[in-house]
Amino acid sequence: MPAMDLRLESPLDMHLHLREGEMLTLVAPYSAAQMAGGVIMPNLVAPVDSLARVREYRAAIEAACDPHVFTPYMTLFFRDYIREELVAAKDEIIGVKLYPAGITTQSEAGVRDFDRIGATVALLEELDIPLLVHGETAGFVMDREEEFLAVYRWLAETFPRLRIVMEHITTAAAVEFLEKYDTIAATVTLHHLLITLDDVAGGLLRPDLFCKPIAKTPRDRKALRQAVFAGPPRLMFGSDSAPHPRDRKECVGCAAGIFSAPVALPALAGLFEEAGCLERLDGFVSANARRFYRLTPPAKTVRLEEKDWQVPEFFGSVRPFLAGSRLRWSVAAASLAEE
Ligand code: NCD
Ligand code: ZN
Repeated sequence: MPAMDLRLESPLDMHLHLREGEMLTLVAPYSAAQMAGGVIMPNLVAPVDSLARVREYRAAIEAACDPHVFTPYMTLFFRDYIREELVAAKDEIIGVKLYPAGITTQSEAGVRDFDRIGATVALLEELDIPLLVHGETAGFVMDREEEFLAVYRWLAETFPRLRIVMEHITTAAAVEFLEKYDTIAATVTLHHLLITLDDVAGGLLRPDLFCKPIAKTPRDRKALRQAVFAGPPRLMFGSDSAPHPRDRKECVGCAAGIFSAPVALPALAGLFEEAGCLERLDGFVSANARRFYRLTPPAKTVRLEEKDWQVPEFFGSVRPFLAGSRLRWSVAAASLAEE
């Protein structure tokens, strides 16, 4: 049987950590080679929380992605903003990303008191700037996402025109919740479609699979898969690819984050193929995001081919998701020559 080809029109990664400095230079090409664009998370050591920082960071990303065609959709780190700041930034950002303080990597500057965010959120609603949310409480680690649904409900009902993105959902409860409000969309990662807590901590401890939100139960994974494979319009792929060097992962106090950018599309193709719904992949990795965010990404056809390859153990100092395993699909070299 001849090897199959799969063409994806302008695939997008709607949740991506590219870091800065040497790490940015190392990891950005893997996203830029297979995606037409990505939503860039603002949780740098000094958060991206001003238009000047957005511009500076965008320029660094563009330099690191060169010569690939790749649009970095920039975000501002949520804080109290005044109207003028948001008006000025509006055309240069895709949204504002809210982190509860201290809940994940580099989120110390996040929100401590949700009773005090209303004024800024009202401005986002008025200016039609999407609010992207890391939705976890400080409760028991397995319950954090479900507990946070109350905050999403409050946001959706208090700000009925605000577009809200529930980032990296991991639970059956979140999947169910998503159906209730058409102003709410969600991203789903590759790793939460593949692993459960058992993979992280059921045998020998796997720091490479430790991330926030923590991988949940088989029931949750099943609900996520069912939702993604059914192709509802407001579920979007966001890798949450979050590289950390080996010495920050393989130590006491392991940093949360999984580096999945190099394997994202090949592994998704394998997963959708196994589920018998390859035709739905385009909606998940592009069409749904374009519609919800009203984007016109660069026209870039990415070709995947049925050609197996072994995922390297390391990219520089970073161990990738699925290191050492064989994947059936690969990003064809031809796709790197973009139109
Ligand atoms: C992310 C990171 O390392 O920046 N880590 C993670 O485990 N996903 C932050 C985040 O998205 O929570
Ligand atoms: Zn993230």
